[in-house]
Amino acid sequence: MTSDSFTRTMIDAMEGLSGPQPGYRRVHARGLILAGSFTPSGEAARFTTAPHLQRDPVSTITRFSHTSGDPRAVDGTPTVRGMAVKFFTPTRAESDIVTVNVPAFVASTPPDFLELVNRLTGLPVQGPERREAIGAFVAAHPESVQAFKFAGQVAIPASYATSRYWATHAFVWIDAAGRRRFVRYRWEPAAGVRTADLDAVPGWPATHLTDELVERLHREPVRFTLRVQFAEPGDPVTDSTQIWPDDREEITAGTLEIAAPAQDQAYWSATTFDPTLVGDGIGLSDDPVLLVRGLLYDESRSRRLREARALESPRGEAR
Ligand code: HEM
Repeated sequence: MTSDSFTRTMIDAMEGLSGPQPGYRRVHARGLILAGSFTPSGEAARFTTAPHLQRDPVSTITRFSHTSGDPRAVDGTPTVRGMAVKFFTPTRAESDIVTVNVPAFVASTPPDFLELVNRLTGLPVQGPERREAIGAFVAAHPESVQAFKFAGQVAIPASYATSRYWATHAFVWIDAAGRRRFVRYRWEPAAGVRTADLDAVPGWPATHLTDELVERLHREPVRFTLRVQFAEPGDPVTDSTQIWPDDREEITAGTLEIAAPAQDQAYWSATTFDPTLVGDGIGLSDDPVLLVRGLLYDESRSRRLREARALESPRGEAR
């Protein structure tokens, strides 16, 4: 399969998971976009020339999202959630970090993920059929066991502001001398990790977590620190089903401060947060899932923008 036809097949398959949702992202359909800034600690400057990770604060746009492709999916369920951050360098170039609240991804290659999506299509979101399908997938792909354990343990957070988020893939930091080091990113919530009060969850409105975030921001900014883990020789750098040991060297690259909902939700929603958009001083690892994500997200974006234009057109035709 060529990369173009794989991209189309993969996005077609993802559309099957939640049914047609014209104008929305094929997954992570419902989200909230927030404006803020990132203040580097200065620690990263020794390891990367990335302009947004030196010393001066830069502006950011963050999108928190529910993982489902169905924009009506409710917040009071234990599911994976996303936090995507776009940094604007001093010259307005962009660099993205796209994370989820689990440390590992469930498939080590794009065709494996396609297989998983096909196995799950048409099954209820919870229940024995789904567990059986995942069991059959894991039996064929034992490297995915740990990631499914993480996904199975994922709790409903008290707030988007009280969860950890991981980028799952390895990236490469390049310093001024051209030295390359493999790194992994994690956002640590300044408010601490807190899960929801399960007695209160049944009373939550569908959009409780985004409502809570807006309310919280009226009181105070939401902060996360960017923790960066360095690989040691032999650590897996091309397979995001595998995590690195906790004792690897880490630094704090800086602090994200989220101030308020972004003024123009529609404008930022129309863009993509693309993990392959890294900018100067940062490289991509050879993780095949990472490498394909830019193409996939572009395909999802062009479909949703085409659909949104058609919905806006008085005659319902694509323009
Ligand atoms: C082959 C594997 C994957 C496929 C097919 C896939 C597919 C997609 C698609 C189609 C979108 C919507 C893009 C758009 O319309 O803008 C998306 C968004 C997203 N994906 Fe993935 N993805 C994959 C792997 C991952 C991994 C490993 C992560 C872990 C960090 C991840 C986290 C996210 C997040 C957080 C978003 C929402 C970004 C936003 O708010 O705009 N995905 N994904």
